[in-house]
Amino acid sequence: MSLPVKLYLHYPAVAAVVTVQHEGRTNALACVWHTALSFDPPLYAVSISPKRFSYDLIRQAGAFAVNFLPQERADLIARFGRNSGHDLDKFATWEVETLPLEDALAPILAEAYAAYECKLYAQHTYGDHDLFVGEIVRLHQAEGAFGENRVLNIPQVKPALYLGANLYATLSDEPPVFRDGQR
Ligand SMILES: Cc1cc2nc3c(=O)[nH]c(=O)nc-3n(C[C@H](O)[C@H](O)[C@H](O)COP(=O)(O)O)c2cc1C
Repeated sequence: MSLPVKLYLHYPAVAAVVTVQHEGRTNALACVWHTALSFDPPLYAVSISPKRFSYDLIRQAGAFAVNFLPQERADLIARFGRNSGHDLDKFATWEVETLPLEDALAPILAEAYAAYECKLYAQHTYGDHDLFVGEIVRLHQAEGAFGENRVLNIPQVKPALYLGANLYATLSDEPPVFRDGQR
């Protein structure tokens, strides 16, 4: 069955950048279809089309990282999401800054407020995308990005929320509302 519209009705969704590195070649793509799957083991999944240059690279590397950038860097997310490693070496062309980690399984973007470093755990085909499930082996978080309650520090950090149609929103500066179920 094919629907007349693409699957955008559930947006906004956090726009992430998935990075990968294999035998000297690095790449990154924008990814909005991603989700946590399990605490123990800690599993995180990204849904990637076989058309993407990153697809084979992730299979070969057996690893990837999921980077979360602020809305201010929506330009970088959009560039990663509108250009393919099939046509250019994005990291070499754009001088993307990464953390100087010699043992990282995949590049960690210096401007990410958080990132998950993942070892490939499983891969399943669902329709025209493949779900790459990664076991998180290392967490990265910028200083001050999260509070003592482990919640994102808003409005210091403004997450990039993808709406579709190349539009990126973020949360308002209003403090989050705490609700304990009482009226
Ligand atoms: C905001 C945004 C989110 C995207 N989310 C996904 C996604 O979840 N899965 C996917 O396969 N492609 C997604 N794409 C498309 C890829 O990022 C895009 O095709 C990219 O050019 C692929 O790069 P690559 O060929 O170098 O891997 C998204 C694009 C944008 C702009």
